[in-house]
Amino acid sequence: MTHNIPDPHQTYPLPHYNRLCFLKNIVNNPNIMIGDYTYYDDFENPQNFERNVLYHFDFIGDKLIVGKFCAIASDVKFIMNGGNHDIDNFASYPFYIFGQAWQKVTPTTHKIKGNTVIGNDVWLGFDATILPGVTIGDGAVVGAKAVVTQDIPPYTIVGGNPAQPIRRRFEPEVIELLLYLKWWDWPITKITKHLEVLYSNDVEKLQKLLN
Ligand SMILES: CC(C)(COP(=O)(O)OP(=O)(O)OC[C@H]1O[C@@H](n2cnc3c(N)ncnc32)[C@H](O)[C@@H]1OP(=O)(O)O)[C@@H](O)C(=O)NCCC(=O)NCCS
Repeated sequence: MTHNIPDPHQTYPLPHYNRLCFLKNIVNNPNIMIGDYTYYDDFENPQNFERNVLYHFDFIGDKLIVGKFCAIASDVKFIMNGGNHDIDNFASYPFYIFGQAWQKVTPTTHKIKGNTVIGNDVWLGFDATILPGVTIGDGAVVGAKAVVTQDIPPYTIVGGNPAQPIRRRFEPEVIELLLYLKWWDWPITKITKHLEVLYSNDVEKLQKLLN
C-alpha cells in the first residue's frame, strides 16, 4: 500500500484537529518567514501565532526567520526589537511617543539587536520566550518556560531563565555529520525514503547516508 507524503501547503494537516497548523500557511506578516513543515500547536487557535510575535513593528523591519521542520509549542513568544526602551538615559520612560511638548526628546540609544533566527528541526517547548536578535541552531531544543537571551548552538538542549545548556543531544562528530547532511534541505521524497534512519539514533546507518 502506498501512502501520500504530507503536503506542506495544507494549513491543518491533522484530520479533525485544527489546533495544529503548518505555520507558513497562516502567517501574513512579510517580516516573518517560516519554512516548510514547521508547525505551531496553540491551545486555543493557531491563528494566534502572530499575536505571540511581540513588539514587531514595520518601521524597525526586524525579521523572525524560522527554518523547516520546527515544532513550536503553544504560547511560545518572540520578543522583537520594538520592545526595548532606551535604558542608557536617566529616564527610561519613552516620553517622545506621546508627542506634544515631549517631542523634544527622541529615541537615542535604541538597541536593535537584529533578526531572530531559528534553525531547522528546532523544538521550542511550551511558553518559551525568545528575546530579540537570538539565533537558535539547527536541532536545538528549548525547554518549557525557558527564556532564551543568547544564541544556542546546534543540537543543544537549554532550559531556565536565562536559558542555560542542559546537554548536547549527540556527540560532536554526530552533530557535525548532521550539520553536513542538512537532511531538512533534501527533496521531501528523499527525506521520506530515509525516515527510518533519520528518526533513529543509529550513527552507522546515518553515516551510510553520506554515500
Ligand atoms: C528540556 C527538556 C526537553 C529536557 O528533557 P530531558 O532531556 O528528558 O531532561 P531531564 O528531565 O532529564 O532533565 C535534565 C535536567 O534539565 C532540567 N530541566 C529539564 N527541563 C527543564 C526546563 N524546561 N527548564 C529548566 N530546566 C529543565 C532538569 O531539572 C534536570 O536538571 P538536573 O540535571 O540539574 O537534575 C524537557 O524537560 C522540556 O522542557 N520539554 C518541553 C516539553 C514541552 O513544552 N512540550 C510542549 C508540547 S510539544
